[in-house]
Amino acid sequence: MKKILISTLLLMASTCTLMAQVKLQANNIDEVLKAMTLEEKAMLVIGGNRKIASADNSAMIGGQGKRVKGCAGNTQAIPRLGIPSTELTDGPAGVRIDPRRNNDANTYYCTGFPVGTALSCSWNTQLVEEVGKCIGNEVLEYGCDVLLAPGMNIHRSPLCGRNFEYYSEDPLVTGKIGAAYVRGVQSQGVGTSVKHFAANSQETNRTNVDEVVSQRALREIYLKGFEIAVREAAPWTVMSSYNRINGPLTQENRELLTTILRDEWGYGGIVMTDWIGLRNTAAQIHAGNDLMQPGNEAQIKDVIEKVKSGVLAEADLDICVKRILEYLVKTPTFRGYEYSNKPDLKAHADVTRHSATEGMVLLKNEGQTLPMSDAKKVSVFGITSYDFMAGGTGSGNVNKAYTIDMMQGLSGAGLTVNSKLADPYKNYKAYQHSLCAASNSDYWPWGNEMSVSRSIIDTQAKESDIAIITLGRQAGEGWDRDEAGDFTLTDVERQLITDVCNAFHIANKRVVVVLNMGNVMETASWKSMPDAILLAWQPGQEGGNSVADVLTGKAYPSGKLTMTWPNNLIDLPSSANFPNIRPAAPRQKGDNKKEFQDYTKHVEGINVGYRYFTTANKPVSYPFGFGLSYTTFSYSKPVVKATKDGLTASITVTNTGKSVGKEIVELYVSAPNGGLEKPARELKAFAKTKELQPGQSETLTMDVTLYEMASYNEATQAWETAPGNYTISFGASVEDIRATAPYTLSKQHTVKCHDVLKPDMEL
Ligand code: BGC
Repeated sequence: MKKILISTLLLMASTCTLMAQVKLQANNIDEVLKAMTLEEKAMLVIGGNRKIASADNSAMIGGQGKRVKGCAGNTQAIPRLGIPSTELTDGPAGVRIDPRRNNDANTYYCTGFPVGTALSCSWNTQLVEEVGKCIGNEVLEYGCDVLLAPGMNIHRSPLCGRNFEYYSEDPLVTGKIGAAYVRGVQSQGVGTSVKHFAANSQETNRTNVDEVVSQRALREIYLKGFEIAVREAAPWTVMSSYNRINGPLTQENRELLTTILRDEWGYGGIVMTDWIGLRNTAAQIHAGNDLMQPGNEAQIKDVIEKVKSGVLAEADLDICVKRILEYLVKTPTFRGYEYSNKPDLKAHADVTRHSATEGMVLLKNEGQTLPMSDAKKVSVFGITSYDFMAGGTGSGNVNKAYTIDMMQGLSGAGLTVNSKLADPYKNYKAYQHSLCAASNSDYWPWGNEMSVSRSIIDTQAKESDIAIITLGRQAGEGWDRDEAGDFTLTDVERQLITDVCNAFHIANKRVVVVLNMGNVMETASWKSMPDAILLAWQPGQEGGNSVADVLTGKAYPSGKLTMTWPNNLIDLPSSANFPNIRPAAPRQKGDNKKEFQDYTKHVEGINVGYRYFTTANKPVSYPFGFGLSYTTFSYSKPVVKATKDGLTASITVTNTGKSVGKEIVELYVSAPNGGLEKPARELKAFAKTKELQPGQSETLTMDVTLYEMASYNEATQAWETAPGNYTISFGASVEDIRATAPYTLSKQHTVKCHDVLKPDMEL
């Protein structure tokens, strides 16, 4: 008996030693999984933003996010198994951590890069990759592991408060720009999180709204961009969104997170939830949501209980745990990377300064007002000129060391800014800021635009060579925009544009409007007044310098719109079903709590943006793909050839003007009749030239696969490319087709899919 006891004890001791010896490595993931207790597994799938001690008090101490102050979340450490805590930080316009720490004289500022719309309007995947590399480097050097970006939701309506973080109304642009961003960031050995998967195109009631969407529109519009990024760039993580799709929350939707994402697209990374809300943890795990962020104790208990009671299969939990272990071994924290806390912010400021100019879109340039080579003295109007916006608000904001405003930018470019105007604006700005601080409310410059009397404007018109008016708009997470005074001009802004244009034009001088925003606004009613309009977006922390570079001709704009600028909101089919019933400005903090409705029907289906406007032949203010240049380009006759699985197209672009520039060529496909009903034309490829000197040419080549040309047939649950005669169009915008070529497909091409994500309501 004694003998048996001793040998049992010896066996137990050796098992314990063996268990204790298992430490996570890249090649022993299964072994580690086997060694984990149920409690440890539960802890690993729940984010570590909490205080909790393990059963034996040795496994972990929570609240690990504190290693890098200001990180949005983290994963839980299990020291017994050599599992470190990893850090997850926002995104997307740069790293978002706290710039200061207690009892620490160092600062931890990050670079504020151009917002998503600004980057996508460059149509330059190489440039986006370069920006991604810089952001990835800051993730790495500040000790983080994953950037919670890029934002890849579709611009269904200009009112969505987070459009500035997203790229386009078109899924191809979204996918290609998103993939480039992911490649850039991940080239630094850190991860990304493509978000918010999926159909999170409104902020109102975002944690509960049911987005009711047809299977076709989901596949073609709302999922396509994610599919491209997943297939082409293999992001380490995907973030499931807050909303529902056709009933279930995306975070609990196995059809979305497993059937489509993993089984159909072959995704191998982890899925994490977006941040708010205590949800059904067992359902999330079963759906294929590996990591629940930010995590709390109740969720851990819930997982343990659900496994014990048989509601959640331990095998489902194991799948998620294994995927998290596979993620962990790739991270810099696991690799023991010694971060410097000193990324090269100076070099990154240069990158943001020049990348911003490529995404700027020249909307109007009468009589070559720009570049304003002869102007010496400028009158600068608009409170936003003095309070320039580098980026948007919410988790997409970056804690940057500074923002260059228009005053600084223009002065730096050697121009004299008329101080008779500048001084009152600066005082007004200080006063507005003090009022807002006193009432603890947010400051919305455009809502508080300063009135300027006509006599002051007349004096300016006498004294200055040119006028610049900056119009600003701010938006962000948690709320959608209003139509009145946000999408449209405020009364004070309209008066300002009218008076400045009248006064300066009487004096035979020009007026330039600069748009400093992350989203679309109404332009049809006032665009005839100024001589030039430059859409500068929210171009990052070097904003004033980037704008001045373009205005003075040191740089040139080569961006084109990745979304339609409609004449008015009513023209958009989505407006019939978009919650834009918010109270008028001034908004107060906490205003985002209002919950107006619990479903949004996408009655328009795939008719989003230009797909609708070109098919319905409806005029817009500025079409998708539009953007002027300081020079002009000609397009050659294109060559389109069939390939094994699609087509290859080439076209030569020549700079026919007098200054340098880059041109973006958009390839649209028009399908034959007889297959599914299709939009008049759809973007299927694009390419941008290198910098072309006057007279210089470049041949651009673009490939399109049959799969990319397909539409989703709900009757057969398959992607189908119909046989027949196609027209391949080469456009300078969706409305400015410069050349076409035929393409014939003899036999239908089909890719079968699963019959999932069916609408739960009539559309
Ligand atoms: C946002 C995410 C963000 C997360 C962490 C959420 O509210 O929707 O985009 O990554 O917070 O800050």
